[in-house]
Amino acid sequence: MKVEKKKMLVLHGPNLNILGKREQGIYGNISLQALDRMLYQEAEKMGLTLECCQSNQEGTLIEMIHEAEGKYQGLIINPGAFTHYSIALRDALAGVDIPVIEVHLSNIYAREEFRKTSVIAPVVQGQICGLGPQSYLLAMHALNDGNNADISTLPMSELKIRGIRGAIDVSANDRQEILEATAELLQSIIKENAVDKEDITMAIFTLTRDLDAAFPAEAARQLGWKDVPLFCSVEVNVAGALPRCIRVLMLVHTRRKSQEIKHQYLRGATVLREDLAVVEEVHS
Ligand code: DQA
Repeated sequence: MKVEKKKMLVLHGPNLNILGKREQGIYGNISLQALDRMLYQEAEKMGLTLECCQSNQEGTLIEMIHEAEGKYQGLIINPGAFTHYSIALRDALAGVDIPVIEVHLSNIYAREEFRKTSVIAPVVQGQICGLGPQSYLLAMHALNDGNNADISTLPMSELKIRGIRGAIDVSANDRQEILEATAELLQSIIKENAVDKEDITMAIFTLTRDLDAAFPAEAARQLGWKDVPLFCSVEVNVAGALPRCIRVLMLVHTRRKSQEIKHQYLRGATVLREDLAVVEEVHS
């Protein structure tokens, strides 16, 4: 399972296309293109995917808001003058399930009376105004930090580190046999639990004392687990325990609940966890 980059949308409303030429004393001389460039650069640093759009049309902005649902995990909107009267835009924002932050370059509370009302503010998570381009940058960080109710439902927050156990036995203390059995065990764990290689955090192997012809970690490296920390050790030598046995404990990032994890006890090692085999039979 790959953890996807968070996607955010920035919508600029009417007259923001003429930023840089328009009322420079209030909005500064930065053009919309330069502002967007700044936002794209910040998004890249933050590991986000960003899209910036501008429209002077109320209907176009409404359609872009509708289409954003399910595609973006955060929306930053500067509704321009629509801020102060567009109930249609407000309803569009209220109707989609995306965290939204309203931004303004200027401090709308320090200007004309009619700008002091935002019909948008009551239906969004927050409003940032008066800080020029910084209003947008702060909104990006706020949406990315994920400490608000909507963002906490993003897939990343569902990931847990869980342990997956497994064991397999071999017929002889033979290098090739140890490596092949270990590979079979690891592949079975991966397949049965739909583990992506990138989600493996670490693995610990043990061998019973009668096996020393190979490190089982070598089999993991041969499977391409290049960056996974691996550790091999000797199993506790309890009298009467299963001989020639390779055990593994893998830690993985997963969305599975602990009872959904399928531990893998293969060949003669099924005796180590007969309870798991019985559960399988009942369900099959
Ligand atoms: C603005 C403030 C609005 O009142 C105005 O109509 C704009 C720009 C801002 O970014 O400061 O167009 O949204």
